[in-house]
Amino acid sequence: MRIFRFQTDLRAYLSDQRNQGLSIGFVPTMGALHEGHLSLLKTALTQTEIGVVSIFVNPTQFNDTADLEKYPRTPGADIGLLEAAGCQVLYLPDATDVYDGRETATADLGGLDAILEGASRPGHFAGVAQVVGILLDIVQPDKLFMGQKDYQQIQVVNRMLAQRGDGVVLVMCPIVREENGLAMSSRNRRLSAEGRERAGQIYRTLQKAAREAVQKELPVIELESREHLDSQPDFTVDYFSFRHPQTLEPLRHPPADGRMVLVTAVLVEGVRLLDNVLVV
Ligand code: PAF
Repeated sequence: MRIFRFQTDLRAYLSDQRNQGLSIGFVPTMGALHEGHLSLLKTALTQTEIGVVSIFVNPTQFNDTADLEKYPRTPGADIGLLEAAGCQVLYLPDATDVYDGRETATADLGGLDAILEGASRPGHFAGVAQVVGILLDIVQPDKLFMGQKDYQQIQVVNRMLAQRGDGVVLVMCPIVREENGLAMSSRNRRLSAEGRERAGQIYRTLQKAAREAVQKELPVIELESREHLDSQPDFTVDYFSFRHPQTLEPLRHPPADGRMVLVTAVLVEGVRLLDNVLVV
């Protein structure tokens, strides 16, 4: 695996690969890699010829400095995992190399950035859109691979890609779960062993709610699910909500085509955990 610390070198290398007709798949990450990230890379390697992963804990998407400081950083272990998984290229920059003063277009996020995660983390999605835009300018991939776990992020990036119009295809990869159903996340390692086990309740509650959507009023299901999760020790629900799959607008009734996404954010032992299921 080639490791690049500087975008100039990475750009030159990838331009050479592109000139040889090789397709590029890109997986942006903030490190602390787990099976979820590796599944994105595996999918990238089946669909494109060069798998590029970036590891950069982007300060502009953290509205809380304590959260940024606490974000796990495990570069040594990450490099080992990527090498074992067959990654060809790793971009491992520091902030001066990413934010090197180049102008980047600001995407119009159309309000998608102000709801759900955006409501409690102002500026978060503007930071995500900014860094993903810069990374796309550097890597210029054919395909971008991101996880369904951060469903709202997927919709934000989709919107940004439509505005960029550079033909990059976004591939949404399914959520990888721990044995108890908990969605894999770098944040899970901040939970106690007991909290991590009990956090499996989140997915079970989502599944039950999704099943009930055909026979019960959506607001009733939301309320009962919230109450159930809130009653667990050390659980605080931020939202549990049926939404339109693209606009993420709240739904009071299933739409004609039946397609919805059920999204939730739950603080378990103070750790913010996100999960969702698609209802079709
Ligand atoms: O999902 C993440 O890890 C980050 O938000 C991303 C897409 C790498 C941007 O910093």
